[in-house]
Amino acid sequence: MITVAEATSVDDELVDAFARLVPQLSGSSPPPGPAQLAQMLDAPGTHLLLAREDDGPIIGALTLVVFRIPTGVRAWIEDVVVDEPARGRGVGEALTCRALEISTEAGARTVDLTSRPTRAAANRLYQRLGFEPRETNVWRRTI
Ligand SMILES: CC(C)(COP(=O)(O)OP(=O)(O)OC[C@H]1O[C@@H](n2cnc3c(N)ncnc32)[C@H](O)[C@@H]1OP(=O)(O)O)[C@@H](O)C(=O)NCCC(=O)NCCS
Repeated sequence: MITVAEATSVDDELVDAFARLVPQLSGSSPPPGPAQLAQMLDAPGTHLLLAREDDGPIIGALTLVVFRIPTGVRAWIEDVVVDEPARGRGVGEALTCRALEISTEAGARTVDLTSRPTRAAANRLYQRLGFEPRETNVWRRTI
């Protein structure tokens, strides 16, 4: 059975899991070290969700950020990744569904995410779970 729980402490297992998972998400971002992970766990509104099969190792992760802005409580999903051998078994779905539950409990009006069109599996997953394309330009200013 796939279980999803929030990370609550930084240990070697957590650091090793992100060392394995982040390269499967981005070729240009170094994995977070213990200090960066601790910063995430300390940040109010940041939920670091971890997936496991039964009591096995961490096989997937998702970061949810819930915050209030003038137009209401909003949420963003970022950095969804499932270990390659564990894909296609609903781990991504379980992580995303838990993020939607936490967002609902927090009173969020919307949950946003972006996904490049080439990420076919991710785009199918999000559509299956009720995400709809939003007519807006997505802008980025690199610092
Ligand atoms: C996107 C991702 C998180 C999905 O995780 P997952 O655990 O495979 O997700 P699910 O099993 O819940 O569903 C994924 C969909 O992709 C399909 N799929 C993806 N990889 C697959 C694989 N290796 N084998 C079989 N099916 C696969 C599933 O069948 C399913 O689609 P469908 O049910 O519409 O047919 C995972 O593919 C991943 O980590 N990709 C690389 C990083 C990435 O693109 N992250 C998203 C950033 S926005």
